[in-house]
Amino acid sequence: MKIEQPKALRGRVELPGDKSISHRAALFLAISKGEARIDNFAESEDCGSTLRVLRELGASIESRDSGVFVKGKGKTGLLKPAAALDCGNSGTTVRLLSGILAGHPFESTLTGDESLQKRPMKRIIEPLTSMGAKISANEQRLPLKISGTPDLRSIEHRLAVASAQVKSCILLAGLNAAGKTFVKSPSAKSKEPSSRDHTERMLRFLGADINESFEAVPEGFVHKVSIDGGSQLIARDINVPGDISAAAFFMVAAAGLENSVVEMKNVGLNPTRAAVVDVLKQFGADISISGRNETGGETRGDIVVRGNSGFAVNAVSNIIKGDVIANLIDEIPILAVFATRLPGGLEFRDAAELRVKESDRIAAVVENLRRMNADVEEFPDGFRVGRSDLKGARVDSFGDHRIAMAFAVAALFAEGATEISDSACAAVSFPGFFDQLSKIST
Ligand code: S3P
Repeated sequence: MKIEQPKALRGRVELPGDKSISHRAALFLAISKGEARIDNFAESEDCGSTLRVLRELGASIESRDSGVFVKGKGKTGLLKPAAALDCGNSGTTVRLLSGILAGHPFESTLTGDESLQKRPMKRIIEPLTSMGAKISANEQRLPLKISGTPDLRSIEHRLAVASAQVKSCILLAGLNAAGKTFVKSPSAKSKEPSSRDHTERMLRFLGADINESFEAVPEGFVHKVSIDGGSQLIARDINVPGDISAAAFFMVAAAGLENSVVEMKNVGLNPTRAAVVDVLKQFGADISISGRNETGGETRGDIVVRGNSGFAVNAVSNIIKGDVIANLIDEIPILAVFATRLPGGLEFRDAAELRVKESDRIAAVVENLRRMNADVEEFPDGFRVGRSDLKGARVDSFGDHRIAMAFAVAALFAEGATEISDSACAAVSFPGFFDQLSKIST
């Protein structure tokens, strides 16, 4: 994909449905009682992987009348698949599904593409094994062979990293465990969930007996979520908001190009996901939100972003670290691009998890920004990006959708053309990304 700087961006962007919420809607309805409809389900490759593997597990899923209809099989009603389940590029599919399959009395194998095969699975293998599932893996990585049982033991598990995928995996296994299963997050300074909480909200919406509390510890608070193994999920229609992580690319693009006005409707604004908006506003981006409302436990609203002619010297610290990192983990690559526009740049720390995403996102961002003439310093747990005049260059997506899209935005700020190799991987989360970008480029 070759991209040159436009004059401005003007118009409305149609966002895909939220990826995290779409995965959960399909997975949770497949193990509910009854039938329900999902509206605005993400048409991304990742969410397609979830639908594909659920069908291979016997779930009845139909796409019609612009909705996705799922007939639930109940908590232990999925069927032994005929072959290995290919989760493609999707970490959310493999980790959440493992929690569900741990409670099913058959053996199944989960695998995925080259990137997913490199990602760490010990974080789910250990707790699921202590709950009574039998799991074999290739040095703690895919393929995972899971032999489940509906008679799991409940556990109290303390997460080593603030991961919503791991938290969700254990809560889903907890649906088939005797008594209450507890998941404790790493300590945080404030009484907020330490990672995205779509699972808690949706399981509650579907009728699960799920509780959240905070335990005071010397460093602050530990978020504690419990699920009762006696819970049943009852199917209800789910309306998926637009994906704020997809919106983030256009927020930065529009904010950074003078005379731009970009509008996005029905964007998910769950507080555990919306930190990107706060950061952009803190550093001077002109973002307004209207029409806030809540459906199915998830807040949403309409966003308008106006381009700045330049950003003032930061009034706040330009180091982003600590608890907020988990709430903007997927937006760090695009915020690194934003940093090139800021007089004081930005530094990200406590973000070592970025090294085990769809690519090593620290290495990928540093490499591509350097190719584009940016001032960058790499750390084991993050990077510092200084104010930089970007120059068009050949950059690499490293097969990672968010890197492809972040550098499409970097290209908009650069002098001269930028070429992104393997840009098609954007379809993993946002199939229409490049079309939407060219539609609003003037
Ligand atoms: C996700 C959680 C995050 C995020 C990923 C989606 C989810 O991963 O990076 O893109 O839907 O739960 P971790 O939970 O591993 O941090």
